[in-house]
This record gives sequence, structure tokens and C-alpha cells, in this order.
Amino acid sequence: MNAVAGPDTPDQYGVVGHPVAHSWSPFIHGMFAKATAQNLVYRLFDISPEHFRRDTLRLLTGGVRGLNVTLPHKQAAAELVNELTPRAERARAVNTIAFFKDTLLLGDNTDGLGLTADLERNFGINLADKRVLILGAGGAVRGVLEPLLERELRSLVIANRTPDRARKLAAEFADMGEITGCGFPDLTGPPYDLIINGTSASLQGVMPDMPVGLVGEETICYDMAYGRGHTPFTLWAKSLHAARVTKGWGMLVEQAAESFLLWRGIRPDTKPVLQALTEHS
Ligand code: ATR
Repeated sequence: MNAVAGPDTPDQYGVVGHPVAHSWSPFIHGMFAKATAQNLVYRLFDISPEHFRRDTLRLLTGGVRGLNVTLPHKQAAAELVNELTPRAERARAVNTIAFFKDTLLLGDNTDGLGLTADLERNFGINLADKRVLILGAGGAVRGVLEPLLERELRSLVIANRTPDRARKLAAEFADMGEITGCGFPDLTGPPYDLIINGTSASLQGVMPDMPVGLVGEETICYDMAYGRGHTPFTLWAKSLHAARVTKGWGMLVEQAAESFLLWRGIRPDTKPVLQALTEHS
């Protein structure tokens, strides 16, 4: 027999990924819920790609009201939902699913907003007229291209281990600005203003080989990955004396706040959570 939810039963949320044990999302949403007096629980769901569709639908029909989606499922999640917000449609990648009573599964993508909010609000970077290099061409990168290109960058280069994937992705966004795709060995200087790592290589503890001349003393290096200590990307950037080297804690918290807003109608204050997290890192 299914348990019947009482008035004090917390609403269920969570994050699906594979692996997902490293995720800080339960901590972040726990702090948001406390600060905004929302009665909810937020859990980790490790679901392998073969079972993504079946197990995610099971969670949602079993009472889970919203999910964050992390690697490697962001593109599969865009196929799963019945409706996409315009930004998720453009990205064809979903990091937030909301399940509404009329059985509508809405897919959104708050990653791009999370990244630009962190770069602009938390780091005070003005992106206009910057030369930007982004490493990777998977779901994480798809989600951030639209808001980056809206900033009137001077140019955006997508470089990927599989160059064809980068070229195809650049072609998809070519209507939005100066954007090209290539492989890592094709990259050349002069140094970029901003280099963003959106590959999952950091999670595997590796940094792909990069040509020389990409990082100068003015270059800001941002790893969308996060975790304790350095990542292979931040170590690489430090070794080349980048002006500023940072990990994606701010992006993580800002995108989470946007997901929370979609689910609960309230945007929590991100500052205390970011402060608590960076004390761990
Ligand atoms: P996500 O949703 O996190 O983007 P994804 O769609 O699986 O996950 O994409 C992972 C990205 O990291 C891809 O750009 C991948 O490169 P390929 O397209 O060549 O697979 C990149 N990546 C993963 N492991 C990597 C490694 N060891 N070195 C370089 N790039 C790597």
C-alpha cells in the first residue's frame, strides 16, 4: 500500500546523475529550504544512462515534484519532458525538471544563468567584447552558450576532444554571434580573456593536453566543475600564471537558486550558501 502524504509530509526533490555521490545539491537546497521555511527534502539519485528514462519517470510518478539533472543525463532529460522552456529548447539540454499536477513535465535549463550570474555578480566581470574559449561540447556546455553569446562577446571558441561535436555545436548557435568549433590541437594564441572548462575531464582527474599560448597574465580561468582543492584544470591554469583561477561553486549555487524559484516560487539568497560552500573548498 502506498503511504498517503499528510499535510506535514515534506515535498520531495532531488538530483539525478551518474555518478552523483559528490553532489553538493542536497546541502544547498537544504540551506535554501531552511532560509525560506519550505517543507521539503532533497535527495541524491544515482541512475545509470541505460535506466535514465524508466527510473526518472518512476521517481516522478512516485511523488517526487522536481529534479535537478546532472551529467551525463542533461540531453536525455530534454527528450524526456513534455515541455521545454525557451532557454532549455535552445540548449536542448535540461538541468531542472518540474512536475506539475496536470502531469506536465517541464524541462528548464538554469546552468547558463548560473554561470553568467557568478561571472558578473560575484566576480564583477564584464563579458562584452571578450575573447572566450570553452572546453567541451556536451550537455553542460550547451546550457551556457545562449547567455554567454547574449553578452556580445568578441568571439567564442568551443574546443572539444571530439572536434566534430564542437563544430556542430558552434554551427547550431552561429546565428547568435562569432562562434567557432575545433579540436584542442587546433587552438592557438593570443591568450584568451576567459577560458571555461566544461568537460567532465576534471571529474576523471585528468586535464587534456593543450597547446601553449592560450593563457596569459590577464586570462581568467573558470572550471565549471567544483570540489575540494584544485582540479586538473585549475592546476594547469595556475601553472601558467592565469590572472584568476576559480571553480564553479558560484555557478552551482546560482543555478540551484533558479531551480528552487521554478519549484517553489521563491528565489533564495545565494550569498550565505556560497560562503558556507567556499569554506569547504
Ligand atoms: P555533460 O553533460 O557534463 O557535458 P557529456 O555530455 O557526457 O556530459 O559531455 C562531456 C564532455 O566532456 C564532452 O565534451 C567530452 O568530450 P567528447 O565529446 O570528446 O566525449 C568531454 N570529456 C570527457 N572526458 C574527457 C577527457 N578525458 N578529456 C577531454 N574531454 C573529455
